[in-house]
Amino acid sequence: MSKTSRIPDFYKLPLSRRLEIVKEFANLTDSEVDLLKETGSLSRDTAERMIENVVGAIPVPLGIATNFLINRRDYLVPMAIEEPSVVAAASHAAKIARSKGGFAASSTGSIMIGQVQTVKVKNPNQAKKDLLSHREDILKKANEQDPVLLSVGGGAKDLGVKVLQTQRGSMVILELYVDTKDAMGANAVNTMAEAVAPMIERMTGGRVLLRILSNLATKRMAQAKVVIDRGEIGGDEVVEGIIDAYAFASADPYRAATHNKGIMNGIAAVAIATCNDHRALEAGCHAYAARNGQYLPLSTWEKNEDGDLTGVIEVPMAVGIVGGAIKTHPIAQIALKILGVKTASELGEVMAAVGLAQNFAALRALVVEGIQRGHMGLHARNIAIAAGAKGAMIDTIAEEMIRGNKIRLDLAKELLKKHIVD
Ligand code: MEV
Repeated sequence: MSKTSRIPDFYKLPLSRRLEIVKEFANLTDSEVDLLKETGSLSRDTAERMIENVVGAIPVPLGIATNFLINRRDYLVPMAIEEPSVVAAASHAAKIARSKGGFAASSTGSIMIGQVQTVKVKNPNQAKKDLLSHREDILKKANEQDPVLLSVGGGAKDLGVKVLQTQRGSMVILELYVDTKDAMGANAVNTMAEAVAPMIERMTGGRVLLRILSNLATKRMAQAKVVIDRGEIGGDEVVEGIIDAYAFASADPYRAATHNKGIMNGIAAVAIATCNDHRALEAGCHAYAARNGQYLPLSTWEKNEDGDLTGVIEVPMAVGIVGGAIKTHPIAQIALKILGVKTASELGEVMAAVGLAQNFAALRALVVEGIQRGHMGLHARNIAIAAGAKGAMIDTIAEEMIRGNKIRLDLAKELLKKHIVD
């Protein structure tokens, strides 16, 4: 009999029963089930409060990037990521940046955009005027939804209206500009967008469809700048090489995607460590990179009058330090304590600096030696472990593969066999 994934009321079952079902479905062994049961510092209860249908938790290494000097303050930066070399690269880049004062970061505030889509409007331009003339009423209705946010100085501050010509005809889009302060703000904004919908239908005579936050958070930008001493990175040739690498990314979306992926290695790792919504950040950053029609790098690299390398990054940074999973996850709380940030904007500034550091480290490695050498040590160890090496044997196998310039699982297995026989 074929197995079915149709399991009515799976979500209502206790975790232990869910595990039994998955075990049978996937032929898991007892020890695999035992591993799933180990949820570590995230208790099962907490995990079950966070998402549905929980059967376990997946630990990801949490590293600390050192050396970060941002706006003259020292930070230790927690980064959660499965990829080797990222934490080391960020720390190394931050160390190099210190000689010219580290990173200078700033941000534009914490305004998120909520969108309300209205279709079937008879006279969209008139509707736009009507909505704008009811600005105060709409903002009042939005702000009634979140007295707590209001009490800390946040709330819906303004609105905008645009008429879009779409393949399904004209649509009127009302945008609420909500200061969400130290929260990422998705919940607050979505609640407000939903609350104003009936009055928008009345005012426009149309039908409201979507009421949802936009992840293109252009009113919540973070910027970071850095000067890299040319002497610290091998002189003018490397400076020129990095500027050429940037020019390549500016001219070619295929390269820009990878350039930006390196930036997101840093940003997403801090987001995951602090339980921020890294998908929201990815969506926002990539959409921002394509805002002018061509997908561009999120950072720029130039040479200053002293011949030093200067980098600037500008990214939408919808992050929070309160609310949601950030509050629920015990490790996220500790990560924030290690960071010591006082506001969500400060967290966004740190993340922009980490993204820039990561980008610099990747470009430098690519220009100077190719990325593989830097990656090789940890990669070789991982392959040795995958081949079954344990204890001191891991390094022995890894070193032999590095010496031979070939890092492959079959080779690691062969070497392991040879050592065991020896
Ligand atoms: C790998 O995770 C990231 C890089 O590909 C970034 C880049 O190419 O700039 C090294």
